[in-house]
Amino acid sequence: GFSWTLPDHPKLPKGKQVAVVVLDGWGEANADEYNCIHVAQTPVMDSLKNGAPEKWRLVKAHGTAVGLPSDDDMGNSEVGHNALGAGRIFAQGAKLVDQALASGKIYEGDGFNYIKESFENGTLHLIGLLSDGGVHSRLDQLQLLLKGASERGAKKIRVHILTDGRDVLDGSSVGFVETLENDLSQLREKGIDAQIASGGGRMYVTMDRYENDWDVVKRGWDAQVLGEAPHKFKSALEAVKTLRAEPNANDQYLPPFVIVDDSGKAVGPVLDGDAVVTINFRADRMIMLAKALEYADFDKFDRVRVPKIRYAGMLQYDGELKLPSRYLVSPPEIERTSGEYLVKNGIRTFACSETVKFGHVTFFWNGNRSGYFDETKEEYVEIPSDSGITFNVAPKMKALEIAEKARDAILSGKFDQVRVNLPNGDMVGHTGDIEATVVACKAADEAVKIILDAVEQVGGIYLVTADHGNAEDMVKRNKAGKPLLDKSGGIQILTSHTLQPVPVAIGGPGLHPGVKFRNDIQTPGLANVAATVMNLHGFEAPADYEPTLIEVADN
Ligand code: 3PG
Ligand code: CO
Repeated sequence: GFSWTLPDHPKLPKGKQVAVVVLDGWGEANADEYNCIHVAQTPVMDSLKNGAPEKWRLVKAHGTAVGLPSDDDMGNSEVGHNALGAGRIFAQGAKLVDQALASGKIYEGDGFNYIKESFENGTLHLIGLLSDGGVHSRLDQLQLLLKGASERGAKKIRVHILTDGRDVLDGSSVGFVETLENDLSQLREKGIDAQIASGGGRMYVTMDRYENDWDVVKRGWDAQVLGEAPHKFKSALEAVKTLRAEPNANDQYLPPFVIVDDSGKAVGPVLDGDAVVTINFRADRMIMLAKALEYADFDKFDRVRVPKIRYAGMLQYDGELKLPSRYLVSPPEIERTSGEYLVKNGIRTFACSETVKFGHVTFFWNGNRSGYFDETKEEYVEIPSDSGITFNVAPKMKALEIAEKARDAILSGKFDQVRVNLPNGDMVGHTGDIEATVVACKAADEAVKIILDAVEQVGGIYLVTADHGNAEDMVKRNKAGKPLLDKSGGIQILTSHTLQPVPVAIGGPGLHPGVKFRNDIQTPGLANVAATVMNLHGFEAPADYEPTLIEVADN
């Protein structure tokens, strides 16, 4: 029968403290001026890379190695932390939605049947990120859903768009809106009343995460549900073009707008009897809106009017909270994560990051599960992030504070595993500000030093890795790797993640001297890290986990 008990590792001892450090958005790429990790002073990460070759290696962090549909898909924090924590590769949201749309199963499930009951007398509202980034959502999935819903009786459809510029190039919003407008006009030709109803930039409207700033969600609620926004336009294309022309405007931070008819009335507020689908498959930046749409008791902001709706998520975003209760596609069932195994085998665990990445080292790490497995053995510490700023103005973020918490946790001797996420490379990388990203990388490196020094003091072990690339490449390139220029001859800034591999480094005084990376695993990825960490704690990994990266030579 099934047992949570992990077998003892035949050679590695128990009782060593293990620090697991995840540098967010820290990939390995050629050294040039757009590689902020290369440009920055990063002596600690450099020394790991230039140290013993059997203690540093690269692993895949994108595409099929992390459960994404194809190897053209860049990595991201959700799938990266899922793989790191779960030790296996699960087909992820992007892929599950593709499959459900291709087979038509999406239209047969409880979720679709539930919202369908509104099609006769109500409006179908689709709210979500409009791009082909494939991190939170994908345009082609929205297109298929529009087609499928209209063929199955939706007569009135309103789309509430969030412009991207973070997982895709800034400025690409215009093209995505054009494509969507074109699709909607084709639906109108078929007699379906289909329109874009509202919009705004993803980082300013709706897509906050981990309750960092509820104002973001409120701005979205006002535009989407109440039909109120500071900017009113006759068309979404006009809206996006006009708002982008403002000084310093970009897709990520466009202000909220609503589309109005000739009499100035919003074309698509959410009303009693309507159906709402949040089209993002990824959870973190939809959970707050899902709570506002679903919870009767809600005090995060004044919703003013709470329409009686049929609401479904593209996926269920939180399996523990069962949020939302209705959804179109079942999420990946990521069970038996390494976190749960280790806690059940007595490993006292400390996890820490700042707000914007806190759920990454807890919720995503634990297979999209919120809360503790065993309160008596775990402590999760969240350091409040700065809110209401873009992180290029404070690129050091809370790296130092996170490192100090980790150091204190290590020195306290109260924990067997101390796990952190250092957000700088990613969060500042997403702003596209190269100078600030260099500062960010240096700050992350300094944080690693504090943690490794503490490991040294207690005779522990470290494993340093990353969830995907970002800061190591800040420019869009052609196939030959040459930077692409925009119309005015400037470089095209890459705000998104990359397809690059990420480092895994192990060491520390507690590491058995015979441990080294194996070279018999063909193309290891992030999912191989969990078994490795279990070994470092003195356990063998479960048989169905991706194999460990390490072996132990007898000496
Ligand atoms: C975001 O949500 O900030 C980006 O779309 C992806 O970044 P992350 O995967 O590093 O969180
Ligand atoms: Co990111």
